[in-house]
Amino acid sequence: MLGYPTHFGQIECLKLIASNRFADKRLGYLGIMLLLDENQEVLTLVTNSLKNDMNHSNMYIVGLSLCTLGNISSPEMARDLCAEVEKLLGSSNVYIRKKAALCAMRIIRKVPELQENFLSRAKSLLSDRNHGVLLTATTLITEMCYRNQDTLVTFRKFVTWKAWFLLDS
Ligand SMILES: *[C@@H]1O[C@H](CO)[C@@H](O)[C@H](O)[C@H]1NC(C)=O
Ligand SMILES: *[C@@H]1O[C@H](CO)[C@@H](O)[C@H](O)[C@H]1NC(C)=O
Repeated sequence: MLGYPTHFGQIECLKLIASNRFADKRLGYLGIMLLLDENQEVLTLVTNSLKNDMNHSNMYIVGLSLCTLGNISSPEMARDLCAEVEKLLGSSNVYIRKKAALCAMRIIRKVPELQENFLSRAKSLLSDRNHGVLLTATTLITEMCYRNQDTLVTFRKFVTWKAWFLLDS
């Protein structure tokens, strides 16, 4: 925002994301992504809305919530919402699985030790039938391997097994 103060807009954005209308939420989350970064105090107020929206019945609202967390997550938010994102990695919906994998990547960048929580889901994502999900899962796993030697060893075995599987079939 070119260094100008943005306080005037922050509370309006919080009001918009608390609304029940999709159009309001979308505008509110977009505003939050533009006006806030992880050092703002209002973020604690956003965490609760994100948590509720991650359990919304509309997949696009779940997607907005995952995108926003992926964009502005602070270490505290990463800890608070890690369980929700883990659950969404196992969603039956392709669109949500993809976004959850990218969001998980931001979480482990902020708090590397949280990657434990995503290991088992990440392994199952490797056998996903959808290319988009596979791509995001591989991105997530690459990030995990960069950050943890044990993870690298675990997934290295996995790659060999997969390669054999491909050779056999
Ligand atoms: C999530 O939503 C379901 C119904 O859509 C509800 O039964 C469940 O209690 C909600 N969970 C939380 C933590 O709000
Ligand atoms: C967050 O979203 C804003 C607006 O879309 C974008 O300009 C910014 O680069 C994003 N930041 C990150 C870390 O993704």
